[in-house]
Amino acid sequence: MAGFEYQRGKLFCEEVDLASVAEDVGTPCFIYSGSMLMETYGQFQRALKPLPGIICYALKANGSLALCKMLASRGCGADVVSGGELYRALKVGFPPERIVFSGVGKTEQEIRLAINANIRQLNVESLPELDLVAVTARKLETRARIALRVNPDVRPDTHPYLTTGAEETKFGLNLKDSLSACRKAAAWPNIQLTGLHFHLGSQITSTEPYVEALQKVLALIDELRGLGITISELDIGGGLGIAYHDETVPTPQQWLDAIRDDLKRSGCTVIIEPGRALVGPAGVLLTRTLYLKKTLRKNFLVVDAGMNDLVRLSLYGAFHHISPVWQKTGKRLRVDIVGPVCESADFLAHQRDMIHPEAGDLLAVMNAGAYVASMASNYNGRRRVAEVLVCGQRYALIRRRETFEDLVAHELIPGLVLEACADGREAD
Ligand code: LLP
Repeated sequence: MAGFEYQRGKLFCEEVDLASVAEDVGTPCFIYSGSMLMETYGQFQRALKPLPGIICYALKANGSLALCKMLASRGCGADVVSGGELYRALKVGFPPERIVFSGVGKTEQEIRLAINANIRQLNVESLPELDLVAVTARKLETRARIALRVNPDVRPDTHPYLTTGAEETKFGLNLKDSLSACRKAAAWPNIQLTGLHFHLGSQITSTEPYVEALQKVLALIDELRGLGITISELDIGGGLGIAYHDETVPTPQQWLDAIRDDLKRSGCTVIIEPGRALVGPAGVLLTRTLYLKKTLRKNFLVVDAGMNDLVRLSLYGAFHHISPVWQKTGKRLRVDIVGPVCESADFLAHQRDMIHPEAGDLLAVMNAGAYVASMASNYNGRRRVAEVLVCGQRYALIRRRETFEDLVAHELIPGLVLEACADGREAD
């Protein structure tokens, strides 16, 4: 698969030398491989193909308009979790009939937006939300299509913060409540119950949790059908992991092969919501070394990307490979790679062996296509960085680096502040 590879000691994205992009747009910046994204999308398509189904890309992984546009052009759908993501998905051309809306805290305004946009389904996560969807649909004199999100109480082997299908998490309804909620939903004139949804968590590296969840959900579907309630859609969420370190992870084909018989047996149209596995490996964060700082205890490689650009490390204790853009020879030095943010949690790597590190080096933080740019912030007055898409020998900016003006663009100094300032001066 074309992606990020060394050619004569230099790291390339497809046919573009990463160093030349750094020269052109500056660092830090994100660089995405268009062909890698399309190739991975093709893998999901081929894996799903024999089943009736659609792929709804989880925009939260990376909502970049350019990347979304490429996916939408191939017939991909979208999984959104807010009015903002719905706006983005519609703007970029995902067809409403391929948009699903998940999330435990949808507001009435968001429900209204989703119904008015005529999306495929709202994935409803609680009884009070079901009530609100019904009331909103009645006000709009229509029927809202919904799937009920089931919490099957399954615990994949991932970080606790990335587990969403276990009983103690806030997501979905347990199996017993799902049954009563479905009965309620099926009886309401303003609700059209189309299916069931679950999402077990993220960075899941085995297929067992899906097998386990499906046993429970298929039993529920059978029970519902026994009650005369039709379930025609089964949305199994996303969650497929990627190899950040040395994990072995199922391919999209292996993932779906492991549950194919169960999915077939459901007789449902299948929806999958991949995020990370689709975009994660297709992006890197390019950063430049500012200083090599040697202290009594440690060597610090201070780089120009910080935790505001990549928060996954401090939030989940995640691991990302860091590759030199120019391969070097020389002595290895054990370093902590840290950013400029004023927090000790601001690091890209701990105790990593780097060959002859020095100021000016360019480093690529690998597997940075998912949950990196989309989780970035302006903390410490730092501007969100430029993003670049590579297609073959060509590349283009898909998000410009923020300016200092951008940082203050939404803020106001109203009259009452000026008055308070004047009062303060008078009092002095
Ligand atoms: N569907 C739903 C309802 C979700 O909540 C998520 C992710 C996905 C699909 C996509 O899951 P994926 O295929 O990307 O695993 N910020 C974390 C990841 C949080 C994922 C939240 N939900 C990280 O950086 O690892």
